[in-house]
Amino acid sequence: MIKLAISGLGRMGMMHLSIYEKLVEEGYPLQIVAICDVDAYKLEGKSTAITNLVNSASENKLSEYKHYSSLTEMLDHEELDVVDIVMPTHLHAHASIEVLNRGIHCFCEKPMATTVEDCQKMIDAAKRAGKNLMIGHCLHFWPEYVYLNDCVKNETFGKVNGGYFWRGGDQDHVKNPSWNNWILKRECGGGAIFDQHVHDVEVINWIFGKPRAVSTLGKSNATQTYLGMMEDDHKTYNIVNTNYIYEEATVITALDDTSYIGYPFGYGFRVNLDSATIAYENSELMVYRANQKPFQPDLSVYGSSNAYYNEFKYYLDCVKAGVAPDKIPNCGSKNAIHMTLCEIESADHNGKIVFCS
Ligand SMILES: NC(=O)c1ccc[n+]([C@@H]2O[C@H](COP(=O)([O-])OP(=O)(O)OC[C@H]3O[C@@H](n4cnc5c(N)ncnc54)[C@H](O)[C@@H]3O)[C@@H](O)[C@H]2O)c1
Repeated sequence: MIKLAISGLGRMGMMHLSIYEKLVEEGYPLQIVAICDVDAYKLEGKSTAITNLVNSASENKLSEYKHYSSLTEMLDHEELDVVDIVMPTHLHAHASIEVLNRGIHCFCEKPMATTVEDCQKMIDAAKRAGKNLMIGHCLHFWPEYVYLNDCVKNETFGKVNGGYFWRGGDQDHVKNPSWNNWILKRECGGGAIFDQHVHDVEVINWIFGKPRAVSTLGKSNATQTYLGMMEDDHKTYNIVNTNYIYEEATVITALDDTSYIGYPFGYGFRVNLDSATIAYENSELMVYRANQKPFQPDLSVYGSSNAYYNEFKYYLDCVKAGVAPDKIPNCGSKNAIHMTLCEIESADHNGKIVFCS
């Protein structure tokens, strides 16, 4: 039986909990032992955060778990196999290292940490402890992105010529964070560029490799202006567009925009290869070829359509089997932080080319 606790029960923590509860219901050998949050309201399921993700953890079940307001206290009192860190990003490194130093496996949400140095410290702590650290880059379990990766790696449709990735939309949590405006502050959540666009940055590193350089244009956050947070140390970007520069002539770009008024949250890509275009648009994956009917690939081989379910089950399966969860390599999660920090430097200098390898 795997004994698990969650630290951070905001909008994403509740989503994690709902999946762990589903696994328990399905008979997975998992016991949810404890939940921890500095905000007592969250432990009672009274979060005011509105999310674009489905929260199905029942309020009734929250009372079945031990409640803590401090991670250290929870680790002092409970015998745990896995701790899931779903706290604000600037707390990831310290919390994960504390968990790993106690000889406990750690799942930590993305982005890995706010500096490359902290990412490395997390990797070192996992190595020292001989425990599994996996960062929640859920797109590695998103069937449409896994299909794209397979096609690129296997050259199913030849070589890649270009790719465009995007995500964004009007999202309440970006304007109305559930804890201390953390997501809006450069040093805590880093705004859309660090919190959300990092998903695509990590995917680009995973599928195409680390680029030689990046050039980014960014626009600052209207909400920050409203909250009086536009001083340089807080300034971040909520519209961002990056060109990724590779040795070979591959044109890869990514756009993230959380400033669209009223436009629903979405994401996708269009990648052109020698003999096909793979497009994930309006929640539909299609493959287009010359003079042939477009087709929808069979994604059932990639597991559930719920990527988070696939992700947590995979992580727990690795813990159970005593193997490393190398579907999301920690070096890739660290590269994504490095690339995103290079993008911020570029955006700070109006698109200056910043070398990142
Ligand atoms: N993989 C994904 O698709 C995805 C989606 C959303 C968020 N995230 C990531 O998940 C993390 C959390 O984001 P969120 O949207 O749930 O934020 P949130 O603000 O809704 O939740 C964070 C929670 O952490 C609690 N907290 C703050 N300090 C704490 C401490 N010291 N100890 C314990 N709890 C503490 C807060 O009270 C809050 O309930 C972020 O790193 C974010 O980037 C990932």
